[in-house]
Amino acid sequence: MRFTLRIWRQDSRDSDGRLGEYVVDDVLPDMSFLEMLDVLNERLATDGEQPVAFDHDCREGICGMCGMMIDGIAHGPQRETTTCQLYMRHFDEGRPITIEPWRAKPFPVVRDLVVDRSAFDRIIESGGYISAPTGSAPDAHAVQVRKRDADRAFEAAACIGCGACVATCPNGSGMLFTAAKATHLGSLPQGQPERLGRAENMLETHDELGFGGCTNTGECTVVCPVGIPLETIARFNRDVLKASFRDTAAS
Ligand code: SF4
Ligand code: FES
Repeated sequence: MRFTLRIWRQDSRDSDGRLGEYVVDDVLPDMSFLEMLDVLNERLATDGEQPVAFDHDCREGICGMCGMMIDGIAHGPQRETTTCQLYMRHFDEGRPITIEPWRAKPFPVVRDLVVDRSAFDRIIESGGYISAPTGSAPDAHAVQVRKRDADRAFEAAACIGCGACVATCPNGSGMLFTAAKATHLGSLPQGQPERLGRAENMLETHDELGFGGCTNTGECTVVCPVGIPLETIARFNRDVLKASFRDTAAS
């Protein structure tokens, strides 16, 4: 297969960017999107040109590193997948493919398609932990967890921190990510003591970092590769509301 690519090239955070056009040959239908970029980069390196910088690590849909906008869609046209799990057989050879980095104020471009997503780490630092004493490993079932709560926590824990929800949201909101992290811990018995404070702190950090507010457009859940549902945000908002009542009662 042969593709024409329009790829965002930008040398650094503060430099201007532009779309560069490249033709890549010898692409197999069963190559992943990243493998197709590897083919292009090998050629660029051989020709003495600067390869296209893009993030990746596991290439198995686990680490969340490989985010990019493909034809304006976070992670491309195939639903519920990461870019590393997207295959070239889903693309029409005749149409150029436009590839851009995540566009969101809290995710500045580092180079080409690589963005700095450490804002997510700041949100986790502000509340994504429990302070239960650990000691040695407890016996299995020492703390009973209801099946419903275990399932909810497990579903939320599937978030891989890719940032597609932010990139696709018209408000640049990180609420789906933040709510997933808070729900993961707040659904389990061990996470209850700090549940409301956690929600408050994480939302405060989210807002301070420049993420936008959620207006329930729901686009985040459509592009989320692991299917975190919109109800996660509703549950998180309920905790934030309860925290504000608690603060009012205490004052
Ligand atoms: S909620 Fe989904 S889209 Fe957002 S960071 Fe987590 S896995 Fe990615
Ligand atoms: S490279 Fe790890 S999820 Fe794509």
